[in-house]
Amino acid sequence: MDSSDEPDMTGVMVIEPMGNAGPYLVRAAASLGIRLYAATDERVHAGYDPWLTDALAGVCLTELADSERALDDMEAFCRTRRITGVAVCWELLTPLAALLAARLGLPGNDPALAGAARNKIAMAGAFRAAGVRAPADAVVTSVEEAHQVAASGRLGWPIVVKPAEQGGSWGVSVVAGPDGLDAAVAAAGRFTRAEPHGLPLDARVLLQSYVPGEEFSADTVVREGVPHPLPVVRKDTTAGRYRVETGHSCPAGLDPATVRAIQDTAARAALAVGVRNGVAHTEVKLPPDGRPVVIETGARLPGDDICGLVEAATGVSEAAAYLQAVTGRVPRTEPTRDAGAALRFVLPERAGVLRYVVIPEAPGTDSRIHIRPGERVPEPADSSGRVGHVLARAASVDEARALAARVVSDTRVKVS
Ligand SMILES: Nc1ncnc2c1ncn2[C@@H]1O[C@H](COP(=O)(O)OP(=O)(O)OP(=O)(O)O)[C@@H](O)[C@H]1O
Ligand SMILES: [Mg+2]
Repeated sequence: MDSSDEPDMTGVMVIEPMGNAGPYLVRAAASLGIRLYAATDERVHAGYDPWLTDALAGVCLTELADSERALDDMEAFCRTRRITGVAVCWELLTPLAALLAARLGLPGNDPALAGAARNKIAMAGAFRAAGVRAPADAVVTSVEEAHQVAASGRLGWPIVVKPAEQGGSWGVSVVAGPDGLDAAVAAAGRFTRAEPHGLPLDARVLLQSYVPGEEFSADTVVREGVPHPLPVVRKDTTAGRYRVETGHSCPAGLDPATVRAIQDTAARAALAVGVRNGVAHTEVKLPPDGRPVVIETGARLPGDDICGLVEAATGVSEAAAYLQAVTGRVPRTEPTRDAGAALRFVLPERAGVLRYVVIPEAPGTDSRIHIRPGERVPEPADSSGRVGHVLARAASVDEARALAARVVSDTRVKVS
């Protein structure tokens, strides 16, 4: 399954490029003269969009849920090609990338710590060990245990209840008092496998103390253990029981000292979970004391088109910097542009069947529809309820935020 054989080009193996960061990796690889290979499952590969299939120099078909087999298959595949780096798009597959890079002797992350970049229980332990500021937490496997922890008062109220291994805010609830605990623990504990690869998940539930304050994400490229901070992004979410993201914007609208504090905290979080040659996407909250607290980190590029947002605002290509780091080159992370960008999601208020969605066109904006008319819109409890999004670019972030907000408020969407 190989095409394109220019002898001078080196290749990067991407473990499952089908995902939000995939198009950015494809574009960055082309700009850096890197050939991209993919490892995936046969069934998942059958659903690849043609643009992705066309962009790949070759595909290793394996079974990603079977780590040993996948490692053997990918190692054999990479050894017969000029692969100089390993990358990954899916958080749940980041430990596999660390193990593959180690087997091949390529720059990668610390395999002994890599599990902590995927599992929020292991992550809490890694943050404690490294002294990274994170919420107080407790692990439970039943509703009874959750009530015991809550009654001890150790986490206070509200309590955040979340799955040990999941993303997209699936199964995450902010619970104000004991009454909401049963439903929240059930919602968080229901994930035993992750599609589309059927990866087995740790079904334990994590309880965390609630961290108040504004929320940001900060990505970090790391090369040979040295962190290179990327621009900080402001994250807007709903305020209720479900913290659904409503948008992102960059720059974050903070003073330079606070930006640096967030970047330093994010870099320490990345190093704590073993990121050594790669990228990390870290979410932090800024409580009233002004000292950032880490909510989570993942050894992958951001989702939600944050790569596009950051590039529009600052000129920095996170995907290119990531590919540079995993192939042992110096990552380019200096901003080359001083503009603003804002992304807003189109989120209907309730579940139902999508009848129509019309996002108006406006200069300086691009929009995309995620759910088609006739398809079901889930309850707005997590990121799967997004009908579409708008990315706005402007001279300043305030203008970009206003432009995106205007387009979303002019969007016509009907669910019934
Ligand atoms: N301890 C906490 N204190 C305050 N808010 C929290 C806490 N944990 C989670 N949240 C809120 O819930 C959101 C989702 O939680 P978290 O990031 O842990 O889950 P996730 O499924 O990995 O999310 P996503 O993939 O959407 O980033 C956070 O972005 C934040 O707004
Ligand atoms: Mg998160």
